[in-house]
Amino acid sequence: MTANHATIRTPLDRLPQWAALAKHREELGEQHLRELFAADPERGRRYSLRVGDLLVDYSKQLVTDETLVLLRELAAATGVAELRDAMFRGEKINITEDRAVLHTALRAPGDAVIEVDGENVVPAVHAVLDKMAAFSDRVRSGEWTGYTGKRIRTVVNIGIGGSDLGPAMAYEVLRSYTQRDLDVRFVSNVDGADLHEAVRDLDAAETLFIVASKTFTTIETITNATSAREWLLGQLGAGQDAVAKHFVALSTNAEGVADFGIDVANMFEFWDWVGGRYSYDSAIGLSLMIAIGPERFREMLAGFRLVDEHFRTAPAEENVPLLLGLLGVWYGEFFDAQSHAVLPYSHYLSKFTAYLQQLDMESNGKSVDREGNPVTWQTGPVVWGTPGTNGQHAYYQLLHQGTKMIPADFIGFAKPVGDLPSGLVAQHDLLMANFFAQTQALAFGKTPQEVAAEGVPARLVPHKTFKGNHPTTTILAAELTPSVLGQLIALYEHKVFVQGAVWNVDSFDQWGVELGKVLAKRIEPVLLTGEGAEALDSSTAALVADYRSLRGR
Ligand code: F6P
Repeated sequence: MTANHATIRTPLDRLPQWAALAKHREELGEQHLRELFAADPERGRRYSLRVGDLLVDYSKQLVTDETLVLLRELAAATGVAELRDAMFRGEKINITEDRAVLHTALRAPGDAVIEVDGENVVPAVHAVLDKMAAFSDRVRSGEWTGYTGKRIRTVVNIGIGGSDLGPAMAYEVLRSYTQRDLDVRFVSNVDGADLHEAVRDLDAAETLFIVASKTFTTIETITNATSAREWLLGQLGAGQDAVAKHFVALSTNAEGVADFGIDVANMFEFWDWVGGRYSYDSAIGLSLMIAIGPERFREMLAGFRLVDEHFRTAPAEENVPLLLGLLGVWYGEFFDAQSHAVLPYSHYLSKFTAYLQQLDMESNGKSVDREGNPVTWQTGPVVWGTPGTNGQHAYYQLLHQGTKMIPADFIGFAKPVGDLPSGLVAQHDLLMANFFAQTQALAFGKTPQEVAAEGVPARLVPHKTFKGNHPTTTILAAELTPSVLGQLIALYEHKVFVQGAVWNVDSFDQWGVELGKVLAKRIEPVLLTGEGAEALDSSTAALVADYRSLRGR
């Protein structure tokens, strides 16, 4: 490994650019957004950027021109652009797993050349996309039938983490583009209730299971897939030969797929250079493609590509993922922000933040740097949020008047989505009025003087005062199309990338999920037999004993 990204780096908090930001933060003090806006009437327009169909307004961020310059200098000093270019070139920047990180190749045009270990991966990407498209068309048209000859009415995706959250989220987002007589359901939890509720009203003869697992070893998925196979064969009263018509697999592990009993001809492949949480535009998106059709899926890929190109080529001053990433670094370290809210004003984005949680928190929830040294700076935030306006009637109180610093992204759309009945279209302005009102209230608040001037009794003035100065980014697009979804996801993927690069963590491994898996494997037999309980710590041993007794064991 010869590239810059693999060389030992000066610790972030010893860089002069870091010190310059710390000093600048001190100088900024409690400067209020009210003052910043008053000082620059053009701030709203000046602090906004466009990428593709997205208008990104960052004027309500606690930054000045100087902050932005200093943040960009930090990005330059930490080699963000070099690591980005190495990623796009297919270098093995996932250093702990010695893997390339090439989700961008999943949406590269057919004539692109992107090499991993000397081999151009683009033709294989497009071959799988074509195979997915042909299969999707057959299912959508009814040409693909089940074992008894009936057409497929329900697709059940069985997967977890990156093999679930992406397609599940995107299916919700693009629901108005789906073939409405074809239902898609998602099973992820190893709690049998998940599978039970997903299949209890289904006709097995009309059901197609997609087993989605990059490794094909994930215990939750293999367990659910095994139970689904039993259910299917039991319902159909059929033998193993029915499996081929009702099970397909999405994986990098052909051997595991074959061992499970799925014909590898019915396997849609992807590769170890696609991280699980970066995979829904790979074969992992098959359920989505069946739902929305290949053409829409390709539109979505084009949206991803557009932002990839922007991230790769736009100058730092105009580079939106770079900006959003740097803002997160700014708040995490210099304002002690522990979390980041993503608040979409679209019902269709109900699973968007859950998807981002894995993308962001599994990527940057790290506490050692790329060389294995403990970091002495803040890394990834807690990402959370639900669609507005529901959140307004739940937790926004804390955003407005609590003691925590919580930067937030507000995502909204000018037009309501597609097939909304005209009677409901009218509600869209009300939704969006809330969208604009919230960022205004968060930024500017309401002063004690303003409250008092309304005749509020003095003792209530502090309670009705809004400090304001809560930073938000507003992302506005004309409409929530497949392309816009691709643009949004790529935007967040690259934002996460930028932060990992600055923090010098490996954003593409996830060793932190391993210990729990190993311990669960050890504990399961203890739950069944009680043997081995003495090796457990006293808390776990007592809990396991209680559990066993409650189960009558
Ligand atoms: O346990 C975490 C994880 O490895 C995620 O990174 C991944 O998305 C998920 O499990 C599912 O893995 P697989 O697709 O291999 O079943």
